[in-house]
Amino acid sequence: MAQTKVTVRTLAAMKDRREPVVFLTAYDYPTATFADRAAADMLLVGDSAAMTMLGYATTLEIGMGEMLVFAKAVCRAAKRALVVGDLPFLSYQPSDAAAVRNAGRFIKVGCDAVKCEGGARIASRVRAMTDAGIAAMGHLGLTPQSIGPLGGYRVQGKSLAAAEALAQDAVRLEEAGAFAILIEAVPAETAALVRSAVRVPVYGIGSGPHVDGQLVISHDILGSFVGDIKPRFVKRYAHLDRVMEDAFRNYAAEVRSHAFPAPEHEYPIDPIQESAIRKQRLAAATREAS
Ligand code: KIV
Repeated sequence: MAQTKVTVRTLAAMKDRREPVVFLTAYDYPTATFADRAAADMLLVGDSAAMTMLGYATTLEIGMGEMLVFAKAVCRAAKRALVVGDLPFLSYQPSDAAAVRNAGRFIKVGCDAVKCEGGARIASRVRAMTDAGIAAMGHLGLTPQSIGPLGGYRVQGKSLAAAEALAQDAVRLEEAGAFAILIEAVPAETAALVRSAVRVPVYGIGSGPHVDGQLVISHDILGSFVGDIKPRFVKRYAHLDRVMEDAFRNYAAEVRSHAFPAPEHEYPIDPIQESAIRKQRLAAATREAS
């Protein structure tokens, strides 16, 4: 059956119906295929790929070239989900023109929208992208591209003043044309305040239930993240690390014990041809030995 593609209008209608949006990161074809089959509404080709897929220490190290490889794979898989390309560090910060150029590269490979980190300070970037016909999502709260100024991966919006500042940032992003806002790692009441300040959907990651949808990093819920960062908000739905390591150990043991490959893993051949090839091989071995 043909899939109906999720659009920004679908997302606005889901907000009106108070239907939570299911939002996941995906960076590769198989993961995006399985998430799409599971009816995820949105897929984020996040710059978290730096850490989840490439083993970098932070998201600051990934560039547009690497992001586009991941984005192309996800777009090939997503029949239904709306795909958001995450603008990496220094792809939009330098100027409005850089933001439009790099956002356009995501759109050209098939993404439906882009995301960038920051509030009022990047409002002109969001305006420029929106004016260029590109759907842009803002990202507030814990913004990993700013771990320097933030002093690390720290929960944000923990005071009334900080929560109000985030709400103001959300308003500025909405005024600039953002179709949605993502808020990361803030207390639930702060996320609720931000959501009440704007009409566009507000999605949360580690920001409690009072939002229009939940984003998770697929490696976190699948148990395949290699690293020490274990945020409080992560719930594991699988243990792929164990599943994969066990599979590799079992394979290694069977190769070493000659249990694999077994006859059922061999290609069949006509017995007459097989016997002719064997004779040829034995004759060659005999000639070599003499
Ligand atoms: O890159 C990403 O996956 C993100 C989330 C952490 C919000 O931006």
